[in-house]
Amino acid sequence: MDPRPIGVMDSGLGGISVLRTLVKELPDESFFYLGDTQNAPYGDRPEAEILELTRNCVGKLVDMGVKAVCIACNTATSAAEEALRAALPIPVVGIEPALKPAALAGRPGKILVMATAATIRQEKFQRLNARYGENALLLPCPGLMEFVERLELDTPALNAHLDKLLAPFRGEPITSIVLGCTHYPFLNSAITRRFPHAVLYEGGMITTLKLKEKLTERDALGPGPGSVKFFTTGSEGTAAMEQLFALPDSDF
Ligand code: DGL
Repeated sequence: MDPRPIGVMDSGLGGISVLRTLVKELPDESFFYLGDTQNAPYGDRPEAEILELTRNCVGKLVDMGVKAVCIACNTATSAAEEALRAALPIPVVGIEPALKPAALAGRPGKILVMATAATIRQEKFQRLNARYGENALLLPCPGLMEFVERLELDTPALNAHLDKLLAPFRGEPITSIVLGCTHYPFLNSAITRRFPHAVLYEGGMITTLKLKEKLTERDALGPGPGSVKFFTTGSEGTAAMEQLFALPDSDF
């Protein structure tokens, strides 16, 4: 057993979608969640900058004494997971767009992959796409995570932005949607309304199971009681994080 907390990071609030799964699956763990709100969004930045920002955040969590790190951000994982895993003595687990399970499910029709521009551009996703993306349509979504940051999960402005992003794919036989950014699961309702017959895929559960496996291997699971503490690099406080964390599933 290891009572130290698990560090979870994202550019902002999105990683809370992963944190919610982590807490459900690992109820005896303490979690420190760090949102790099001062530097969000990551998805429009060059790789070198994303690597540096992620390294800084993970460094902060390590200084706080965590026993493992979850990079709950697809964009940051693509840029930094490999380097951080090589550099740190503790487990580092990231997240990637769930294109593999979507492709293996073999539904007829197309798979729409929604992610940040940086995630789609980077080599990690390009490799995944070369292997599993035969039926994939790739949609970089600039501006979308900002709605979640403002807790606008189903407003007219959000719906107008989604319509604009999705316009090129109107008429495509989309039967699966990969939510390849950890912010997007909070937009489930708005996205599902546009594709009522599509199955939505997100990577949070796979990431959670990987982390659980690594802690189990090291006999480092937490003894309980579980807890969650929020931290931010910005000046706006943690109220929005707490609100999003506590939101019932039926609210998004
Ligand atoms: N939540 C992040 C992801 O999973 C990125 C959002 C951003 O900072 O652009 O990719």
